[in-house]
Amino acid sequence: MAFRITKAVIPAAGLGTRFLPATKAMPKEMLPVVDKPAIQYVVEEAVAAGLNDVLMITGRNKNALENHFDRMTELEATLEEKGDLDRLEKVEYSNDLADMHYVRQGDPRGLGHAVLRARMHVGREPFAVLLGDDLIDERDVLLSRMIEEQNNRNASVIALMEVDPSMTHMYGIATVEMTGTPDVVKITGLVEKPATGTSPSNYAIIGRYVLQPDVFDVLEHTEPGKGGEIQLTDALQSMAQNNIAGGVYGVVFRGRRYDTGDRLDYIKAIVQLAVERPDLGPELKPWLKQFSANLD
Ligand code: UTP
Repeated sequence: MAFRITKAVIPAAGLGTRFLPATKAMPKEMLPVVDKPAIQYVVEEAVAAGLNDVLMITGRNKNALENHFDRMTELEATLEEKGDLDRLEKVEYSNDLADMHYVRQGDPRGLGHAVLRARMHVGREPFAVLLGDDLIDERDVLLSRMIEEQNNRNASVIALMEVDPSMTHMYGIATVEMTGTPDVVKITGLVEKPATGTSPSNYAIIGRYVLQPDVFDVLEHTEPGKGGEIQLTDALQSMAQNNIAGGVYGVVFRGRRYDTGDRLDYIKAIVQLAVERPDLGPELKPWLKQFSANLD
């Protein structure tokens, strides 16, 4: 039976070690991308795809995440008193963006372990997983397409992107078969971060998944894998190979994606998004041109 998917799970309990010391006391998902924390883009994406029920998996040092999606009464009162209604609107926007829920992971024992923490909240319905440090440009459709495929095929669906062969060791990589639908593939195998030269393809898993609830049973029996962590990729590999709950399909994304968990990609994301902003772009563009002309 097809369900209307309403729940999004956002794992945001990782240690963010690539961003230390910035992430010593602050979650990396709160790092600003131009003037909004990365996590707000992700929640906005979930809501735009009709997923109003958001469960965030958090950990120690993650209070700022909860505070961001709650009222900040003193700040709101001050802005109101000053008549600064533009900024007031920006502050209030995230208060009621979604129906937010939180659960802690305890120890960050891997993405699979984080997703397993969502079991009680999700129940027996298909649900989406959006990684809190992976941004998909709002002008490019991905999540709603994946939800549609999940519904049509009654299977799990993951997002894939073709990456340069030199980058495959940084991603979960899929072995795929074509289906009759453009940009939809059947997954026959998955491997987490294959050693350089051993990658079965250049189809990399990116941070969007629409999963059958059966993934929880599989995760419960998934042993720690790469890096000693319980890997979501390993559970999905088992679902693909054993055709559990309809198997696993991939939607190949060809749009704009920004990985804000990586320092270089984070800087690129800010520049790309700021250039296109009407309030910043007109001044930033000529400055950037001059700056790059002076680079050697
Ligand atoms: P990453 O591996 O990119 O996040 O996990 P990380 O471990 O925080 O980053 P580094 O490598 O140390 O810099 C992808 C997503 O999964 C979440 C992270 O918060 C991130 O959004 N995650 C990862 C968890 O919620 N729990 C975990 O145990 C691991």
